[in-house]
Amino acid sequence: MHNQNNSRISLTLADEVATVAFAARLAPEIKPGMVIYLHGDLGAGKTTLVRALLNAMGYIGRVKSPTYTLLELYQAGGLHLRHFDLYRFHDADEWDAAGFRDEFDGRNVCLVEWPEKAQHLVPQADIEITLEILSGETICNGRNIEVRAISQVGRECLKVLQS
Ligand SMILES: Nc1ncnc2c1ncn2[C@@H]1O[C@H](COP(=O)(O)OP(=O)(O)OP(=O)(O)O)[C@@H](O)[C@H]1O
Ligand SMILES: [Mg+2]
Repeated sequence: MHNQNNSRISLTLADEVATVAFAARLAPEIKPGMVIYLHGDLGAGKTTLVRALLNAMGYIGRVKSPTYTLLELYQAGGLHLRHFDLYRFHDADEWDAAGFRDEFDGRNVCLVEWPEKAQHLVPQADIEITLEILSGETICNGRNIEVRAISQVGRECLKVLQS
């Protein structure tokens, strides 16, 4: 771990195995109604992390990127999860028409890739995760992950990741 304080941690995920291990630590801390933003460039590993998280929560089926559908629905670990990818999102009309507002109902766990594409429409996050591709001379490029807690619920979750 490079750095930690009350509201953020930053660590290196050397490979996908490390992403799976990280997701396994995060999974038990996911609470109903949690909103998690996932930031990072195309291919940074946002969907990979969501897939690992769903698997760690007991989801067995396929987890595909919501690139075209914008939203995929899951049930795992007794929770309802909503996986958004807003990269191709257009405007507020689309938000209303798709009924996205209703998905943020305080019970669904909402995992949002590219929230910046619908900036004023997506409800405030409890946790913001930022993935960054580490480019080095190493054969296998890992990722840096930063987890930032925004709300009290988010801070409780982060506390466990710091321990
Ligand atoms: N920790 C890691 N170390 C190395 N490679 C990784 C790591 N995590 C994911 N990858 C690889 O990086 C790619 C990430 O793709 P992924 O679809 O998860 O990105 P994304 O951030 O969701 O992109 P998009 O914005 O297009 O949805 C995959 O090929 C995956 O195998
Ligand atoms: Mg993705």
